[in-house]
Amino acid sequence: MQRITSLEQYQTEYKHSVENPEAFWAEQAEQFTWHKKWDKVLEWNFDEPNVKWFVGGKLNITENCLDRHLADKGNQTAILWEPNNPQTPARKISYKELHQQVCEFASVLKNNGAKKGDRICIYMPMVPELAIAVLACARIGAIHSVVFGGFSFKSLSDRIYDAECNIVITADGAFRGAKDIPLKSVVDEALQTSPSVKKVIVLKHTNTNVVMQNERDVWWKEEVEKLNLTGIQNLSGFKAEIMDSEDPLFILYTSGSTGKPKGVVHTTAGYMTYVDYTFRNVFQYNAGDVYWCTADVGWITGHSYLVYGPLLAGATTLMFEGIPTYPDAGRFWNVIDKHQVNIFYTAPTAIRSLEALGLDFVKPYKLDSLRVLGSVGEPINVEAWNWYHVNIGKNKCPIVDTYWQTETGGIMISPLAGITPTKPGFATLPLPGVQPVLLNEAGKELIGNSVEGRLCFKFPWPGIIRTTYGDHKRCKETYFDVFKKYYFTGDGCRRDEDGYYRITGRVDDVIKVSGHLLGTAEIENAINEHPDIVESAVVGFPHDIKGWGIYAYVICDHQRKDVDALKAEIVQTVTKYMGPIAKPDKIQIVSGLPKTRSGKIMRRILRKIAEHDLDNLGDTSTLLDPAVVEEIKAGAVK
Ligand code: PRX
Repeated sequence: MQRITSLEQYQTEYKHSVENPEAFWAEQAEQFTWHKKWDKVLEWNFDEPNVKWFVGGKLNITENCLDRHLADKGNQTAILWEPNNPQTPARKISYKELHQQVCEFASVLKNNGAKKGDRICIYMPMVPELAIAVLACARIGAIHSVVFGGFSFKSLSDRIYDAECNIVITADGAFRGAKDIPLKSVVDEALQTSPSVKKVIVLKHTNTNVVMQNERDVWWKEEVEKLNLTGIQNLSGFKAEIMDSEDPLFILYTSGSTGKPKGVVHTTAGYMTYVDYTFRNVFQYNAGDVYWCTADVGWITGHSYLVYGPLLAGATTLMFEGIPTYPDAGRFWNVIDKHQVNIFYTAPTAIRSLEALGLDFVKPYKLDSLRVLGSVGEPINVEAWNWYHVNIGKNKCPIVDTYWQTETGGIMISPLAGITPTKPGFATLPLPGVQPVLLNEAGKELIGNSVEGRLCFKFPWPGIIRTTYGDHKRCKETYFDVFKKYYFTGDGCRRDEDGYYRITGRVDDVIKVSGHLLGTAEIENAINEHPDIVESAVVGFPHDIKGWGIYAYVICDHQRKDVDALKAEIVQTVTKYMGPIAKPDKIQIVSGLPKTRSGKIMRRILRKIAEHDLDNLGDTSTLLDPAVVEEIKAGAVK
């Protein structure tokens, strides 16, 4: 499959994609295996919203990720797995083996009662079986809902409950650095409030003790072995379920401004076409390259650019189980040299934390296999960009700062590696098929360059969110009603004098902490689980490493003298209910919160205090109790 190779070609292709989007995307979709070609490329309106791509087409995405490559790439490594412990051998799974294992596990799913349209929750460590589980669901037409292994039981149970999953796929545990996280016991706790789940399939990985519930819980390995016993030796012919272009492929939960996470729904053909196109063009993948995306499959980046995008393109995708600082802060660079990685895609927060630990961890490594570097998940500050460019890319690797969202399915604004001239801190230009606009608060489009506003898209691309699971109204209200006729991202953005885009950050009540999107309301709910806390308000504050940190203002229902112990308990409570990623960095015990007369918390004021911008609190006279602001200011945590 061809890809863009020059800036002129990008410009021509962009123009074509905007003037004739249907022809453009049909050309991209031609290469795939279809059981039936589409009748119509696009049907859409942003009012309901209703977006359909490749209407009437029939296909299975896994045939495009796997079967399509068997003839010429059967023996090529599809997944290259690097374990948490560097002493454990790496694993290489060829396209042929991956195909076989996906077919086997698809059969296991069927034997355990799964069928097309079911929702299956996957809560697993970063092992190849996670990708196999994802693909096996897609093979049988079940909708996967992967939940990040760092979430705790309450977040997991909310997600299982919302999607009414009937099967959970998990492991006994996960290794993360020196820690061993007991995933199965988290599942057990979550299932106490998830009656829809009938089967739990458990992979043995850490050998942690687990309690298996009769009838409900089965071992992955035993289920696969059963297939052989029943005589189905060769499953490579396991027939893929034929799906409609618009059949849901997966649900992925993302945080919103209410406490309830939104189940973003992506469908089959549009998502497939979009992630394949963007993967090949943004990273400029060459046959034989080793590509490494460090994101967990629990996030959209892992779905689109660790599993689906690379496999659709027939690439070798590296999957890493561990963390950047184990056994030491040179692990990323060690893995790059060890596996001769050519393309490396990570998050600014990882770059900043490794930068802070010093160059001694970088120096022992050559890093000469690298050709392209990528960044995703949050704005990358100029300093981190330069550090990455100089010390990791040795001044010769283009950096693709890729802007996108769970809801967009794939990359929207980004340089094409080595083609688009880059500027530190800028995601640069929209990809072909992407039509960004900046609006002012009143919804008026800002024309021309050197403007700043709210980032929206005015035309659908194939990877766009179709709905929020079980609640289409929420999808409409969150993304399509704020500015009529536009998809609204929730991000602020600047278009500079050259027409380059720079994302300035969220303009709503979600915070990006170490690249993870967290809803303040969800964190508040977790804090409020502490028996002594009556109310809390969470805001973000700028943090050198994490991008944003979490600042919690809490009201305790009685005077507790042991303030430090109380704070530690709050941190524990959040860890228990939501997971360690949502732990507050700063906690301030307050006697009240600044509220309007109608009871709304004035977060603007709390944000300013958290940022120590105490002289710019704005008008506080409309507050129910202005005195509380003085108290909070006086007690602000440095
Ligand atoms: O605020 C933007 C930020 O991440 C948000 C989307 O988060 P999520 O759905 O978790 O997906 C993350 C991975 C795609 C966006 O609304 N964001 C993502 N990439 C960038 C970014 N902000 C600035 N620059 C980026 N490259």
